[in-house]
Amino acid sequence: MSAYYDTIAKPYQRSKQLPYRQVEEYTYFNLLGPLEGKSILDLGCGEGFYTRKFKQRGASRVLGVDISSAMIELANAQERQNPLGIDYLVADVLELGSLDRFDLVVASYLLNYAQTQEQLLQMCRVIFDHLKSDGRFVTINDNSEQDPISYQDCAKYGYVKGVTQPLEEGTPITLTFFLEEETFEIVNYHLSRTTYERAFRTVGFKAVRWFQPLVPPTAIATFGAHFWEDFLKFSPIVGIECLKMLRRGDRHSI
Ligand SMILES: C[S@@+](CC[C@H](N)C(=O)[O-])C[C@H]1O[C@@H](n2cnc3c(N)ncnc32)[C@H](O)[C@@H]1O
Repeated sequence: MSAYYDTIAKPYQRSKQLPYRQVEEYTYFNLLGPLEGKSILDLGCGEGFYTRKFKQRGASRVLGVDISSAMIELANAQERQNPLGIDYLVADVLELGSLDRFDLVVASYLLNYAQTQEQLLQMCRVIFDHLKSDGRFVTINDNSEQDPISYQDCAKYGYVKGVTQPLEEGTPITLTFFLEEETFEIVNYHLSRTTYERAFRTVGFKAVRWFQPLVPPTAIATFGAHFWEDFLKFSPIVGIECLKMLRRGDRHSI
């Protein structure tokens, strides 16, 4: 895993320019809410695309962790160029010792690297253990509920998913990204929403909520509402929020 991301660190960074990333970012920050004064642990932070934005939006402390040293090198290079006070660490989340407790743990597109229910459970355990008692986990993830029939319909957004076998627990899903000058692939793994729910509950999360993507007004203005219809219909990505403890007014489940 580490070695593979080391080879695609730059193209992955460039893929943040794809149109659908505007939807990803808008959905993510909508879910995150105000970040002023919050401490944030960003697991699978990549080259720090969001990590930097958390700090720029007022987070008091941000720590990014990624298994790929090339991704962290890109993140550190940007930190050296424009210091924001972010710390980065090269580490495998599956083997992460206790670092500290944070207001928020985030992990965009990390959980979809769990190949088995046990690995997902271990990632969730690490997430839960790094949260303060009233902390929140927020993520954007591949949507395991997307029907493979619709995979090709999403090419216009800049990437497609592909499978060579029926979706079962652990089935590899290849994501092919289309950049102007090149294409590149990453492989995620299918685990059902039921498996995700069970893992969140098993480690102790008291509330789990799932969110459909939100298209920002700017992306509608640029591409037109019609362009986004398939994205909203097929929902290749999903937002997830898990609460360590129930807050007043929160309902137990969805
Ligand atoms: C699709 S990228 C997302 C990067 C970043 N979160 C973002 O949204 O731009 C997934 C990242 O997860 C990292 N990753 C995958 N498995 C990991 C693990 N077990 N421990 C730490 N990082 C991991 C990869 O190296 C990669 O940088």
